[in-house]
Amino acid sequence: MSKKPLILGIESSCDETAASLITENEQGIPVVLSNIISSQVEIHKEFGGVVPELAARSHIEKIDWIVKKAIDKSGRKIDDIDAIASTAGPGLIVCLSVGLSFGKAFANALNKPFIAVNHLEGHALSPKLNSKLNYPYLLLLISGGHTQFLNVQKLGKYKRLGTTIDDALGEAFDKTAKLLGIEFPGGPQIEILAKKGNPDRYDLPKPIFNKGGCNLSFAGLKTAILRISKNIKSDQEKFDLAASFQKTVLEILYKKTKIAFGEFEKQNNLKQKIFVVAGGVAANKDIRTMLNNLCNEENYQSVFPPVELCGDNAAMIAMVGLEKFKLKQFNNLDHPAKPRWALDEDAVFLKGAGVKL
Ligand code: KG4
Ligand code: ZN
Repeated sequence: MSKKPLILGIESSCDETAASLITENEQGIPVVLSNIISSQVEIHKEFGGVVPELAARSHIEKIDWIVKKAIDKSGRKIDDIDAIASTAGPGLIVCLSVGLSFGKAFANALNKPFIAVNHLEGHALSPKLNSKLNYPYLLLLISGGHTQFLNVQKLGKYKRLGTTIDDALGEAFDKTAKLLGIEFPGGPQIEILAKKGNPDRYDLPKPIFNKGGCNLSFAGLKTAILRISKNIKSDQEKFDLAASFQKTVLEILYKKTKIAFGEFEKQNNLKQKIFVVAGGVAANKDIRTMLNNLCNEENYQSVFPPVELCGDNAAMIAMVGLEKFKLKQFNNLDHPAKPRWALDEDAVFLKGAGVKL
């Protein structure tokens, strides 16, 4: 039996301190040995959003024992680790620096390779943690900071097909929740409230619905919610607005995903049509169901990470580490933290102002 790589992943780009050990079995399927996540939600709740200084302090306080816990839980020894992969961006620089510096120091002390990971690539590869996935695939990345359709051609090769021109989808969920008086982060609560409401009560705008290819926009939707929320008097109206918001999001995603399918098919000579949905918002069951139905209609195989791996975690960072380790794609210890780091770096300067990286 050959020795399979053992990778330590570390994540601290925003408000989760996380560490994970993964390896793979004889069939080459990844095996998550431990996946420890410490969320800072309680710290940031009273401020209605993530406070970078407080987030960084908390990462500094917790990183040592989170990594130790991940190693202990894995049942492996420190010396068995083959490489250390840390998130190097995008994210808050004061937060990134904690996990990145820790990972570099750890790699240096163990004399093992260091791998700098793009957090978005972690989300993009997260479904590989529980299903065998062949390239190329179409990825819809929906998180608190990003909303993009990407043609994933292979590890490290991404072509952007569409992006939000203003707010990210997770941001739209969180802002809607805030306007309805729900504590940060309210995204998951909207899904729960929507179940009690009438989705047809409010007619909300769908910006750039009939133009812009598979680009998306959510800012106008948020403004409409702001206007309506001022006149809300009952809980039922609140539930109805949450339901109407979510219905509008589903309609936007349905239409834009269909357009993205067409673009993806034009760019690739496909034997198999695969659609992957990843990022925190991919935990939303109504979105999963709608996109799964669309895939059935359009003959796509739909792939979702398990709900617990949709949000930020270190197993997905270790997953990228594992693939890069096998290709010997290592980084030097002077690799910087990159607060802005697009997956498709060649597209950065082409898109113009207003387009989120
Ligand atoms: O990927 P993630 O954990 O962090 C970033 O990299 O941004 O995504 C967090 C986002 C938040 O905006 C959160 O409200 C949203 O994902 N989210 C949801 C749900 N669960 C998390 N949005 C809608 N429905 C959910 N069930
Ligand atoms: Zn994320």
